[in-house]
Amino acid sequence: MAGVTPTEREQDHQLTEDIRLVGSILGDVIRDQAGDDVFDLVETVRRQSVAHRREGDEGIAPETVAALAASPPDHQISVIKAFDLFALLANVAEDVHHARRRRHHRSAGSPPQPGTFGHMRGRLAAAGVDDARLRAVVAELEVSPVITAHPTEVRRKTVLDLTRRVSDALGSGDRSPSTIAGLRLTVQLLWHTDLLRASKLRVADEINEALGYYRRSLFEVVPAINQRIASMAHSSAEDGNALAPPGNDAIAERSPLRMGSWIGGDRDGNPFVTADVVASAIDQNAAMAFELLLEQLAQLSLELSLSAQIVSPTDALVALADASGDDSPFRAEEPYRRALRGMYARLTASAQAFVGVVPGVAPRVERSAYSGPAELEHDLRIVAHSLRTHGCHEIAEVLVDPLVSAVRTFGFHLCTLDLRQNSAVLERAVADLLAGAEVHPDYRSLDETERCELLATELRSPRLLRIPSADPGDEAASELAILDVARRAIDRFGDRVVRHHIISATSSVSDLFELAVLLKEAGLVRGGAEPSSMLDLIPLFETIEDLGHAAATMRTLFQHPVYRSLLASRGGRQEVMIGYSDSNKDGGYLTSTWSLYRAESQLVEAAQAHGVALRLFHGRGGTVGRGGGPGYEAILAQPPGTVQGAIRVTEQGEMVAAKFGDPDLARRNLEAMVSATIEASVLDADGLDDEQRARAESIMDELSELAHREYRSLVYETDGFVDFFRSITPIDEIAKLNIGSRPASRTASRRIEDLRAIPWVFSWSQTRIMLPGWYGTGTAFEHWATTPERVRELSDLHAHWPALRALLSNMRMVLAKSDLSIAERYLALASDPDVGTTIFERIRTEHERCVRWALEVSGLPTLLADNPLLERSIRNRFPYLDPMNLLQVELLRRLRHDETGEPAAAEVTVRAIKLSLNGLATGLRNSG
Ligand code: PGA
Repeated sequence: MAGVTPTEREQDHQLTEDIRLVGSILGDVIRDQAGDDVFDLVETVRRQSVAHRREGDEGIAPETVAALAASPPDHQISVIKAFDLFALLANVAEDVHHARRRRHHRSAGSPPQPGTFGHMRGRLAAAGVDDARLRAVVAELEVSPVITAHPTEVRRKTVLDLTRRVSDALGSGDRSPSTIAGLRLTVQLLWHTDLLRASKLRVADEINEALGYYRRSLFEVVPAINQRIASMAHSSAEDGNALAPPGNDAIAERSPLRMGSWIGGDRDGNPFVTADVVASAIDQNAAMAFELLLEQLAQLSLELSLSAQIVSPTDALVALADASGDDSPFRAEEPYRRALRGMYARLTASAQAFVGVVPGVAPRVERSAYSGPAELEHDLRIVAHSLRTHGCHEIAEVLVDPLVSAVRTFGFHLCTLDLRQNSAVLERAVADLLAGAEVHPDYRSLDETERCELLATELRSPRLLRIPSADPGDEAASELAILDVARRAIDRFGDRVVRHHIISATSSVSDLFELAVLLKEAGLVRGGAEPSSMLDLIPLFETIEDLGHAAATMRTLFQHPVYRSLLASRGGRQEVMIGYSDSNKDGGYLTSTWSLYRAESQLVEAAQAHGVALRLFHGRGGTVGRGGGPGYEAILAQPPGTVQGAIRVTEQGEMVAAKFGDPDLARRNLEAMVSATIEASVLDADGLDDEQRARAESIMDELSELAHREYRSLVYETDGFVDFFRSITPIDEIAKLNIGSRPASRTASRRIEDLRAIPWVFSWSQTRIMLPGWYGTGTAFEHWATTPERVRELSDLHAHWPALRALLSNMRMVLAKSDLSIAERYLALASDPDVGTTIFERIRTEHERCVRWALEVSGLPTLLADNPLLERSIRNRFPYLDPMNLLQVELLRRLRHDETGEPAAAEVTVRAIKLSLNGLATGLRNSG
């Protein structure tokens, strides 16, 4: 590796050693617990597989494959589990290695890395951006990661907890016998723990899992970043990392970094999200906020033992202490502790009043509840201010300011819960309401213009459609019950608890008006000459066609007086959500990426033309086929003018643990997100002049058209493709994995159009084809770049334009992780071998084209020449994946051909397949 320092070489050596260590511990555990036969089989497979990946040897020998296939089912399960755990442990070793490198960089005083505030400040300074400009962006900044329950995390919480123990042991750097013994114990526990969930997750479980991340990292890190952002607005220091932490005055009035959630609020295709579930999601979130705030207050009251004999607190602090009700003689001279005890008692009473629970230790004194977080913040400010008046600045800064920031950031509600429903459901609900109120017997028979007129009339009137004596039908009743819950939550917690309602599959103006009419029924929209709304109405555009019309749809809305009035009541800011996964499934990788880019630019123009501030909400998953890829680069590759200091992004599935699994990770990922948002808002990240941009866009339009044709012709126009896909991939088995609360499909249809994007992408990952990350791109380049000049033009564009670079860099990653020789084995499962072979050869040819063009355009000798870390990671981890693929194919073959024998044996086969799905997803790290 070029430029590797001796310390880095030593650290790489340490990684190899760690992988060996956990591998040999696992080997011992397998031998002990599963016996020599299994161990020998695993070892043979492992050695051949490693030699194949590392030295380019033949691969797993046919006789080994035969031995694997012939081994008893329980041995096969043990073999799969062994490789699942090898991959899991290798991943942990890698993560520990990365953390070690980061620590090293920090302590060695290396220049700030991209994605840090220090680096961002440097870039801004180099570009001549002055502090006033930075301050202006920071003053409006709004960055929000939104955690969703999209079912792509295959690891159970128990497994993640055990994994963390391994990570702590390896990360400690201690290799003493007691640490090794601890590791051995954890690996034994892992071996005996079921890696599969025994039953389907409930929404309440999903909420719980997400809440774990607040305790693990977010509760500490998000407020701390908010403090650093606030201090940025007050400092002209060059290096954001070296900024002095803020005093009271510098803590921002707003919280620019805010957490959001969809869990328990996203009811699109999830019948389990009922009104009760929405209510309990809000309560569960709030209960966590109270629990964590109370813990912090209790801790602070232990720490602030300052004596009135030594310091002179302010009158306000003394008054707070005197009002606390704490008359313990032990604390008579400790006014801060007394004040904090009183605050603890008030916060406990607040928890009781807001969510009916008393988390933590009951207080000794009884006090009235706070009316809201502002009162608690006010008291904390009295504490911090008093400390400063007698010279205890540092104590205020280190111990109290973070808590003030936490109260600001999380309030009593913790995070904003978004609501989401599909436009088709909203349409039916409105139709039922209109019929019930005898306003229109058949709303759905109206054309778009008539619908909009009718709905606008409703919005102009304060009169409601709900009539107590009329039954609005189950669907409408359930929708309204959910909106009623939202309204009550806002009354209790304030307007930050629920602010956004997303409409999936938005295709027309009436979709937004339908939502507005329903909101009106719940008191969330006020009807009248100038209707106003308590929620943002957010369209989600997610097919290629809808993305193409997105700007036109928004223009029509922006011109409509009723909508303008609603928008004005939301501060003139319109959020638009764009869907990466569904557009990819619809149009393929290149076309989806380009359609999103185009739609974003056009939306900016539309918003500007109508004086509307635009905020984009990116619905992305972890894999490239669902918009995944490095987050920092992704934000910087956004079209110019689209970020403007405000962005929301979904964080889903396995990415949640990857990004927020510990405070260090959370700090790094959130800092990168904020830095990228500021950089993209302030710098001309695009680097193209108008003429170059026009040319770039026309090239991309042509490429997109070519890629689209190729993708659609394969996926939607090839006879037998659906059967091919359903027979060679484990799509049916994926649906049974119990990894999420919602059903895998919205309908019973077999059509690709009706399949949710996650199982679509997940199945292609399992087969290692990973088609959603590349298909069509090679053809597009080949058909477009027919002359050497055109090839050069593409390379030049790649060199200068982050959008094309990000597109190809992500594609190269996917191509490097795909493996068509493994994939070919799945061909044995094809329901029609001839059709299967034809389709597979077409896929293989396109894959070769993609590789060839990715290298040609990027000018790199190998796919990962610029990403040695991923290259090494593939070398280290993939030997453990290949055997799971081989067994998966064999097991699927038996299942599909009814060769599993007795029902009990069939059950074992299904279980082994599920384990292989789990193992491959774990090993690939992002696969759904
Ligand atoms: P959805 O999400 O199916 O919930 O709309 C798409 C995705 O993120 O894959």
